[in-house]
Amino acid sequence: MDQPPWAEGIDLSRPSPARVYDYLLGGGHNFASDRALAEQMLAVEPDARRWAAANRSFLGRAVEALLDVGVRQFIDLGAGIPTVGNVHDIALGATSDARVVYVDVDQVAVSHSRHLVADVADRVGVVQADLRSPRGVLGDPVTQRLIDFSRPVGILMVAVLHFVPDSDDPGAVLAAYRDAVPTGSGLVISHMSYPARMTDEVKQTVKTYSSSAAPLTFRTQPEVEALFAGWWLADPGVVPVLEWRPPASGDGGAPDIPGLVGVGIKA
Ligand SMILES: C[S@@+](CC[C@H](N)C(=O)[O-])C[C@H]1O[C@@H](n2cnc3c(N)ncnc32)[C@H](O)[C@@H]1O
Repeated sequence: MDQPPWAEGIDLSRPSPARVYDYLLGGGHNFASDRALAEQMLAVEPDARRWAAANRSFLGRAVEALLDVGVRQFIDLGAGIPTVGNVHDIALGATSDARVVYVDVDQVAVSHSRHLVADVADRVGVVQADLRSPRGVLGDPVTQRLIDFSRPVGILMVAVLHFVPDSDDPGAVLAAYRDAVPTGSGLVISHMSYPARMTDEVKQTVKTYSSSAAPLTFRTQPEVEALFAGWWLADPGVVPVLEWRPPASGDGGAPDIPGLVGVGIKA
């Protein structure tokens, strides 16, 4: 495999969630190992592509909903590789004074993000960090430069918390972010969940993903609702991804895409 200069030091033979997701979305920032894992997933879960597209579409609607209630700054945790419909495009499109900090643990995602936001670096920054260390994320000089913690902040955790196992205490991680932001802030979560029927195919998908850099933890509806502890859940609550304020055009998705989403407001 040819190692691009910007990927120096990265083990490209090991699939990464950011690049597998990029492949599912039809992006070009992925390598043979990522495509092989994605194809294995698609073989057992043909809806994986539609899930990725539906999730990305939800991210856009959720950011717009927060902009509508006055949130102008966003910390996008597990932001991934920037593709169509980036948070900063939506936010800066709505208001030129928006601020966005992209955070990802994956070096390739971070490298691409930095390249992409170079021309708006005064308002958009990129941090390479593990979201499980809120102090590191919140105290990073880039975050401190861009985010005014006396004003509402949108905390985005879209398609990422299923990479945080219970043993890493996601409740405590979320509490640290919640306590750092003022009233009027928002929390956006999209989370892989068990489909209505737990088939052998789905079990196989989970097993397949466990060979990547970050194994999957599926959570139930009550478990996802519990992640919003201390936040007021905006309508329609925690629902399947296609049912959160669906666009008039629809997402054309299958009814049983196994993803739960919600938006909380700090009251
Ligand atoms: C499926 S992608 C989601 C991308 C984007 N949030 C979206 O929904 O379109 C998950 C991203 O989370 C990142 N990630 C996984 N665990 C993480 C962690 N502990 N800290 C920061 N980023 C993480 C991965 O590198 C990947 O880029």
